[in-house]
Amino acid sequence: MTATKGLEGIVATTSSISSIVDGVLTYRGYNIDDLAEHASFEEVAYLLWFGKLPNEQELQKLQKDLSDYAAIPDALIEQIKLYPKDTNTMAALRSAVSSLALYDADAEDMSQEANEKKAVKLQAQLPTIVAAIARIRQGKEPVAPKAGVSVAENFLYMLRGEQPEETSIKALDQALVLHADHELNASTFASRVTVATLSDIYSGVTSAIGALKGPLHGGANEAVMKMLNEIGTIDQAEGYIQQKLQNKDKIMGFGHRVYKNGDPRAKHLQKMSKELGDMKGDTSLYDISVLVEDTVTGQKGLKPNVDFYSASVYTQLGIEHELFTPIFAISRVSGWTAHILEQYDGNRIIRPRAEYTGLTDQKYVPLSLR
Ligand code: ACO
Repeated sequence: MTATKGLEGIVATTSSISSIVDGVLTYRGYNIDDLAEHASFEEVAYLLWFGKLPNEQELQKLQKDLSDYAAIPDALIEQIKLYPKDTNTMAALRSAVSSLALYDADAEDMSQEANEKKAVKLQAQLPTIVAAIARIRQGKEPVAPKAGVSVAENFLYMLRGEQPEETSIKALDQALVLHADHELNASTFASRVTVATLSDIYSGVTSAIGALKGPLHGGANEAVMKMLNEIGTIDQAEGYIQQKLQNKDKIMGFGHRVYKNGDPRAKHLQKMSKELGDMKGDTSLYDISVLVEDTVTGQKGLKPNVDFYSASVYTQLGIEHELFTPIFAISRVSGWTAHILEQYDGNRIIRPRAEYTGLTDQKYVPLSLR
């Protein structure tokens, strides 16, 4: 038995949800470029869960369900108010989603119908939880969700407490489409491992949030913004990156386990970052990002991943960096739950082996002789 570090190249399951072949990402056979340009996030979530794009009636039903389920229990809001104000936002989200199960009478119902309903509920409630965490941390009261609007609009509305402008809604909606699923990434794998024991969907999503939190995965978008803030002005960018590379530090938002020639999602976020900067009449954040990309790609050949330009996009949408990874979760919960439903269908427990590298032939030594 020989271990493959990081399971690189190991095919651990079959899946018909999303694929990455020769650097091309598809959801259910639809190219991400096509979806990013034309589809709403709700259409994409439906596609991931049910394997086809919804017709008008199916989309309306999903939009209604998402609206109907969006409110979170008062008891959960009270609980969030008790979290320390400086709690890491992903840690708060992980705890809140775990608690959410306690208030769902169907939490342990393992029927397919109940699990599909819980997938939609989780999708509806994650944005409400994230907005509530953000507002409570700022000493404000949470804003109740608005009926009949998209996930993107509702999230921005609950976060800001006022109607967001159309440009922001569109940009966030497209970012949600781009982050919705990504084959067997670390958090999705974590969710599948958890539910393959026949544990419940809330446990699967809680595991996934824990995995997404790390800076080598979803947490990278927050780390990118910290880096851009440290750089500060464009004249500092090249020197800052050269120093980091010399120190053999990782540059957040670059590199990918699967894409070695570039992440197909990055170009959409780059375009969005430029457009938002143009609209504000200040492209400095975008300009610094481009110079960082040129330097890292020029020196190391590493290309930006989905997290790199999402940092400048969210910042230009007026979103604080602590919310970047939770926003990733708001989108990816669609993919996690689609994978969880797929895992339940024809499940087998996921239990690989380890190559043992420890001591052998040890003999027990009584405590008094140690
Ligand atoms: N900055 C500097 N060097 C890097 C980076 C980076 N961002 N990424 C990879 N490298 C280097 C590695 O150090 C390694 O160099 P070496 O051969 O001299 O040791 C080489 O490139 C190959 O990289 P691996 O470590 O084999 O890449 P791996 O597949 O294990 O990791 C990962 C992929 C985690 C994404 C890595 O590129 C990384 O840490 N990037 C920064 C964090 C990040 O942006 N994560 C988000 C990924 S996308 C997502 O999860 C949503």
